[in-house]
This record gives sequence, C-alpha cells and structure tokens, in this order.
Amino acid sequence: MEKILVLDFGGQYNQLIARRVREQHVYAEIRPYHKITTADILKEGYKGVIFPGGPNSVYDETSPRFDPEILQAGIPILGICYGCQLMAWMAGGEICEANEISEYGKTEFTHTQSVLFRGVPEKSVCWMSHTDYVKRVPEGFNVTAVTGHCPAAAMENAARKLYAVQFHPEVTHTRFGREILRNFIFDICGCTGDWRMDDFAASTIAFYKEKIGDKKVVCALSGGVDSSVAAVLLHMAVGKNLTCIFVDHGLLRKDEGDFVEETFTKTFNMNLIRVNAQKRFLDKLRGVTEPEEKRRIIGEEFIRVFEEEGKKLGKVPYLAQGTIYPDIIESGSDKAATIKSHHNVGGLPDAIDFDEIIEPLRNLFKDEVRAVGEALGIPHALVWRQPFPGPGLAVRLIGEITEERVHTLQNADAIFREELEKAGCSKNASQYFAVLTDTKSVGVIGDARTYGHTVALRCVTTDDFMTAEWTRLPYDVLEKASSRITNEVHGVNRVVYDITSKPPATVEWE
Ligand code: XMP
Repeated sequence: MEKILVLDFGGQYNQLIARRVREQHVYAEIRPYHKITTADILKEGYKGVIFPGGPNSVYDETSPRFDPEILQAGIPILGICYGCQLMAWMAGGEICEANEISEYGKTEFTHTQSVLFRGVPEKSVCWMSHTDYVKRVPEGFNVTAVTGHCPAAAMENAARKLYAVQFHPEVTHTRFGREILRNFIFDICGCTGDWRMDDFAASTIAFYKEKIGDKKVVCALSGGVDSSVAAVLLHMAVGKNLTCIFVDHGLLRKDEGDFVEETFTKTFNMNLIRVNAQKRFLDKLRGVTEPEEKRRIIGEEFIRVFEEEGKKLGKVPYLAQGTIYPDIIESGSDKAATIKSHHNVGGLPDAIDFDEIIEPLRNLFKDEVRAVGEALGIPHALVWRQPFPGPGLAVRLIGEITEERVHTLQNADAIFREELEKAGCSKNASQYFAVLTDTKSVGVIGDARTYGHTVALRCVTTDDFMTAEWTRLPYDVLEKASSRITNEVHGVNRVVYDITSKPPATVEWE
C-alpha cells in the first residue's frame, strides 16, 4: 500500500495534512518524530515524508529535530512552515529569528517554474503563519517562491527530491493548496492514488484473519458507529470466534439498549452478550461530579466487566475496541495537550487481563470509518448514526449522576431528537443531544413558583469532530422542543440552546 509519512513535530495541522493526503486516495500516517528513524522510514516503504509545522524555532535547543541523513536518502520530502525551516537548517541554510519579519494570514506569493507548483497560477494567495523564516537557502537549493516579506516562501533541491514551503498548503485559505499537495504526492513521490476504503476493509479483514486465526476475540460494543464498524469488520475476519460484549451501563439513550441488542443479534447474527450493569455503574459513580473522574471510573468499570465476561468464555487473548484517530489525538500524544481522556484510550487502567488490545480503526477519521461501514454493507441508518461517547450520558449530566437525573435527561434528549428528525433537520446536523445542567432556576407554572432543572440543547455540524460549528436550527424546531420538554419532562422548567463552536468549546459538555 502506498503511504506518506507525516512527522509529528507537535504542530496543530498534522491531522489536517493527513486528511488532505488521504483525500487524494493515498494513505497517510502521523508518527512522532522521535519514535522513528531514517532507516525505519526506508524499511517501511513510505513514498514520501512531510515535515509539517510546529510551534518551535529551529534555534531553540529543545525544538524537534530529525536525523539529517534523511535528506540524503533519496526519499521525497515536503517541508511546511517549521518543517521548511527545519529542512533549511538541517541542510546548512540560514534561518532568521523572530521580530525582523512575521507574516500572518492571507498573503500573495509568486512562484517560478517548479513541479510543486504545476497548475498553480504564477501569483496566488497562500496562508502564512510564521515569525522565523529562511533567509538563505542551503547550497544546492533554489528559491521557487517569494512573498512581499519572505525571500524564500518556497525552496527546492529537485535532484534530491527536497521541497519546502513556508506557507500552509493544507488549509483552505491557500487557494491552490490542494494542487500543491497533489503535485507532491503524485508527481514527486510517484504515488498512483489507489487507496480506497474497500481496500482498507479487505486488507484489514485479511490481516486480522491471519493474526487472530482460531483464537477468540471479545469486542467492546457500544452500538455507536465506531464500535459497530469495528465489530462487523472483525466478525467478517473471524466469524463466531468474535463475541461482542455490550455493557448496558444505564447511561444510554432512551431505549437504546434494546435497539443495539436487536440489531447485532438479528441483523448481523453475531454472538452478543448484553450485560445489564446499570446498578453497578451507578454505585461507582455515586457522588462523583468531576468529569475526568467520571470518565476514569466508567473506563475502568468497563474493563472489569469485560474481564469478568471474558473469563466466562475461556481464554480470550484479544480485546477489540472501536477507537478512532481523533480519540487518540484528543487523549494527548507525547506532544499535544490532553483535552479530555476518551474512555477507550486515556481511561484504560494499567492492569488488563487480555494479552492484546485490537483497534482496527485507530488510524481513521470519522468520515473514513463511515466509508468503511458502507464498504462493508452495514445498513445506512447505522453507519450514519450520530456518534455517542463511550461514557454515555455521564458526560451530559453535569454534576452528580443519579437514576432520576438519568431518566430526566433521557426523556428530554428523546424529545429533542424526535423533533429535530421530524423537522428534517438531522441531515445537516452531525450530532445533537440534550445536556442536563447542574443549574436550577426559578420558573412559574399557572400561579405557582417552580424551582427546576435547566436542560441545554446541543447540535453541531462537522466533518471530523476535531472542529465543529453549532448548527443554525430553525427557531420553530427549538421552540417545539423547548415547550415539549418543559411540559413533558418532570422537573425541567428552562431550556437553553448552546451556541458555541468547537473550539473554544468541545462537542460534549464534559
Ligand atoms: P468532544 O467532546 O471531544 O467530542 O469535542 C468529539 C466527539 O467525540 C465523542 N466523544 C467520545 N467518544 N469516547 C468516545 O468514543 C469518549 O470518551 C468520548 N468523548 C467524546 C463526542 O460525542 C463527539 O462526537
């Protein structure tokens, strides 16, 4: 399989670059720069390497560096922003430190003839975000683009297949960014663009068939898109050697437990064990209000339940999970800050009784997981189901979790979803749900004063859940949901709509 390596220097745009490459049907992988060597890169057969941006200055001793030998290895490299400066520095060029010039935002650049700029007009707009810049390109390199401020907005040593741009081709503000990346991937790295989701599905099934053989696998099934796709993929690989354990922790959406059970036993004919562990989870969560603590407890309890159920099945060496790429990124890599620990990654306790954890989707973005689901023939309604977090309603119940509060939230949430779907708004919404806040407020019903709960409604639109926009829902839909919730859900006297995008908020409230 053709693949491009994106080295992780701690920058914000690594995932975006990987997506842009994958959109061209070439598989891209992100790996921390300090965990891979030039020899590994060559051995593993990457067609090209991208040095992306990063927050550092190359003159800072602690900044990410890479073995200069890679520049001699004959493998195509594209440096972007910090990656451009790093390439110049590694090859003996001169970088100018901050303050002399700095460019931020849309900037016009002019380029000369270069394979990298094939199909790009001589002058066009790019997105700049830098303080340092390359003042003198290394020997053997040519300047291939300039801006008003930047004497080397792009440089290359075509003979050694080394290319670099000071600007960001991966962001949409760079008008011809896609063309520039495409030129690198196809014309410089020589890729053909044959990576498709059905190839991914077929090769992953073959891989696990071989790896697992006739051993047993337990899959943690939540009924959400990710774990469902992971389960179907593994079911196709090992059939009845896969047993799905579906833990009903009592924090599912209304009637969801029955839906999941029915879908997987009837539609897919899988081995499924439903564990009704509602009370066990509620007991553990009693009095806990801190979000990370809730996630940790639920993550740990999940594993305990699996261990217990797994033991009943005899020796089960493998535990499969539907972890996807954003879960890993947002749980914090070595370099990136932890935003929240997604329960299937950050919350795992150290002592696990399984020999190995299998995460077939760990390199995929959400939309790619859906494409795999479609390729596997999973029913559309399930593939396009909105995501649901592993810790369930626990992260939508702000404050303490009690059975009564869970019911209140389930009922409010069901009404909101029903109204939104009835009005045909779900097509443009990626995720929509209710949150039970810990705010109480004064209201009035008839002539009587009430002091009741506040429910927040959340609806977001996004491709990849790394960023999200709040959805502009029609007022009449919001009004209908609000009036039904206050009328039908006992104890709720106020409904608010969350109009915050991600960032600065996250999709879930906790
Ligand atoms: P956030 O709140 O991080 O959510 O912006 C991004 C997406 O991830 C889902 N989410 C989770 N999924 N385990 C999961 O499998 C979790 O612990 C978890 N927390 C959030 C969230 O619903 C949204 O789709």
